[in-house]
Amino acid sequence: MTSLNGVAPYQARRTFAIISHPDAGKTTLTEKLLLSGGAIRAAGQVRARGERRRARSDWMKIEQERGISVSSSVMTFERRGIVYNLLDTPGHEDFSEDTYRTLTAVDAAIMVIDAAKGIETQTRKLFEVCRLRDIPLITFVNKIDREGRHALELLDEVQEVLALDVSPQTWPVGMGSDFFGVYDWQKKKFHTSAGERGGAYTQTKDVSGLDDEILTGTVFDRVLNELEENVELGAEGYAEFDRESFLEGHLTPVFFGSALRDYGIEELLDFIAEFAPPPHSQPATGGRTIMPGEDKVTGFVFKVQANMDPKHRDRIAFLRLCSGTFRRGMKLKHVRAGKQIAVTAPIFFFAEEREIADLAYPGDVIGVPNHGQLRVGDTLTEGENIHVTGLPAFAPEILRRVRLADTMRVKQMRQGLQDLAEEGLVQIFKPDLGSNWIVGVVGALQLDVVVDRLNAEYGTEIGFETVPYTTARWIETDSQTLQKMIEGHRMSIANDRDDKPVFLFKNAWEIGHVTEKYPDVKFRETREIVYEA
Ligand code: G4P
Repeated sequence: MTSLNGVAPYQARRTFAIISHPDAGKTTLTEKLLLSGGAIRAAGQVRARGERRRARSDWMKIEQERGISVSSSVMTFERRGIVYNLLDTPGHEDFSEDTYRTLTAVDAAIMVIDAAKGIETQTRKLFEVCRLRDIPLITFVNKIDREGRHALELLDEVQEVLALDVSPQTWPVGMGSDFFGVYDWQKKKFHTSAGERGGAYTQTKDVSGLDDEILTGTVFDRVLNELEENVELGAEGYAEFDRESFLEGHLTPVFFGSALRDYGIEELLDFIAEFAPPPHSQPATGGRTIMPGEDKVTGFVFKVQANMDPKHRDRIAFLRLCSGTFRRGMKLKHVRAGKQIAVTAPIFFFAEEREIADLAYPGDVIGVPNHGQLRVGDTLTEGENIHVTGLPAFAPEILRRVRLADTMRVKQMRQGLQDLAEEGLVQIFKPDLGSNWIVGVVGALQLDVVVDRLNAEYGTEIGFETVPYTTARWIETDSQTLQKMIEGHRMSIANDRDDKPVFLFKNAWEIGHVTEKYPDVKFRETREIVYEA
């Protein structure tokens, strides 16, 4: 990996994710970004590689059958001295928890919108997470080679629905059957076809303005008139780009383009290189803020994935580096376990392959193979006893009691559930009364994955029974009150996998009732995954 002259390598890192509603074009845009970084040879490989990987693993059949991608991964590519780490987020809403955690590891996000559809439900949900975390957001309005909604209407929708300032950076030059390309009104560049109008071979031409012959000589008059009107209205009606405001998450620059036909991609990448933030500081326990320029290595695990290589039962922990220069073979302190681990075979993920990571910098994500020691939320340091904070666990929306087909396999089942809980796939609750564990998930699809994986990896057949509970809340109180609550509501109290107490609620009425009865107790919908240092 190269670095910019005289600049610390981390400053040349851009770590980001793409959020979108399914079908808006996230996969296509990902491919094109990787292509422009020279990371893959031909478009179609992201998908093809995904299919090969999925085909290899039994439990991932679910993904195949349902045509969704459950696993997130990381893709690194380099372009003009900037290293881009693109973290993939699953689009299916059942796996939102995984997505939320991935978003804790990025410094910016691209929101892809279908020009014909505007803001859709999933886009909105994911946007809310970005807003909670003040993640700078770049908007890419895709599919302008097709008939879509009017550019101004789309900008207004983003502005109103998401309550964000919008700042158009490029404009579509026609859409659908009138499509000619993209116009960068600030840099005065016309991104157009190099051959047949609207075709996939594109070129960027410098123009002196909208009356330049390059435009007037090729673009239909009515299209040019509309473009002129857009540029004029846009300059008056929308915010000027302000980097501070963008970095604080109050303003989104908007790009128009066609991922399929390669319009608007270069502009997007140039913008990310110039304005998207390098790795930010990271809050940690004890009021500590980890700065990317610090000498010592720190990093946190935001995701654990099993079965990436079917030949091994190993798991890969995805470690986002927050500070220091990581060198292969380093011994790092696994703070929760209080143990040193030697990271001898760290992995970088490229589009086509994985590679051993010899050196990595803040903003980079490395895969750390392990046998289950590393969990989501774990921190690795060069000795300091701190934990990175801010990784959420969410109250489950579906709770089920586990039913075991063969009672002799209780041990394997518990091990399996514990492992899957550590990956962050499922939450487990051990009731105060009774020995059958209850599992909690945010989306129903996760339950199918649990059944399949316990069967395939732990040789254990399980089913689920309904329980009278609909959700759980983490209990925050002193031990005396907790004891009183346990005595009064033995059936409803359980411990999560870290032995934190939770209250299993039957319905919204009960939440209200119990909350009123115990005014000093806090019932939390999310729990930050923080291990005591
Ligand atoms: P996703 O990952 O967000 O779910 O979307 P994906 O990229 O898979 O794109 C969804 C569909 O939209 C695909 O068509 C893709 O080719 C098409 N698409 C993506 N970007 C553009 C664009 O800029 N213009 C146009 N016209 N279409 C675009 P499909 O028919 O569902 O799949 P495929 O047969 O093309 O693979």
